[in-house]
Amino acid sequence: MSSILFEEKLLPVLTDLELKPELWPGLSVNVLFEQLMEFIEHSPAELEEQLEVALVERVRRIAGKGEFCLEKYWAEKILLGADLKTFTYYWNYQKLIDFEVGRMKKVIGDLEEILFFGSGPLPLTAILMAQNYGLKVCCVDRDEESVKVSRSLIEKLGLEEDIKVVKGDFFDFDSYGRAQIILMGALVGQNEEEKAQIVEKILAVKKSEQRGFLRTVCGMKKLLYPAVPEHLGKLICPADKKIINSLIVI
Ligand SMILES: C[S@@+](CC[C@H](N)C(=O)[O-])C[C@H]1O[C@@H](n2cnc3c(N)ncnc32)[C@H](O)[C@@H]1O
Repeated sequence: MSSILFEEKLLPVLTDLELKPELWPGLSVNVLFEQLMEFIEHSPAELEEQLEVALVERVRRIAGKGEFCLEKYWAEKILLGADLKTFTYYWNYQKLIDFEVGRMKKVIGDLEEILFFGSGPLPLTAILMAQNYGLKVCCVDRDEESVKVSRSLIEKLGLEEDIKVVKGDFFDFDSYGRAQIILMGALVGQNEEEKAQIVEKILAVKKSEQRGFLRTVCGMKKLLYPAVPEHLGKLICPADKKIINSLIVI
């Protein structure tokens, strides 16, 4: 049954996505990603046990590339005047940030500053944290283009006082400053080994009052992002299934 599901439902979508020379949003790319998300959302939970490493790597490669193209496309669209709220996943992000800030406030009562790694070209995480919760966020991304686009976007939205964008790779970064929370994006760390290295580094460099929050995934969502090994921290899963990421808190 499981191999039929993979062969009939997942592989055709994946192959079509892999054949696309570019993954910029457009009718056919959008439909294919919607089908991929539907497969993940509606597959039986026991399918997770049968995910093969090679297949998972193929899906993650395409999903990561697609997410980057989607964010860059939308960041440029918003720079040209589109309303941020028309971004396809705006409301999903709003729910994610409400969930994450809620949990952060439980461990750091007087929450003010966040250091966020892997912010991408459209740093909606930082934008919603600043606009809806009055938080200061320092975004760090290793990709020059993401840093450039996201800085322009922050300026366009008039959020330069609240959000800084710095170019840097988490694995070389050591200016943890006054941030109370070190938040790791889901695409920082390619596999469980790298996620474990991230946890190890945060534990080694963080001050006692700082906490690490790592976005992770459960169940079939592991097709999209590598998970943080559960024994490395406290796993918190959102009740709302529309929220794609769970958290590992250290
Ligand atoms: C698709 S984007 C943004 C993800 C999404 N906006 C979020 O809220 O998680 C993922 C970004 O992670 C960045 N990234 C991946 N590994 C990184 C690392 N080791 N250090 C810093 N940035 C990293 C990439 O450059 C990319 O811009």
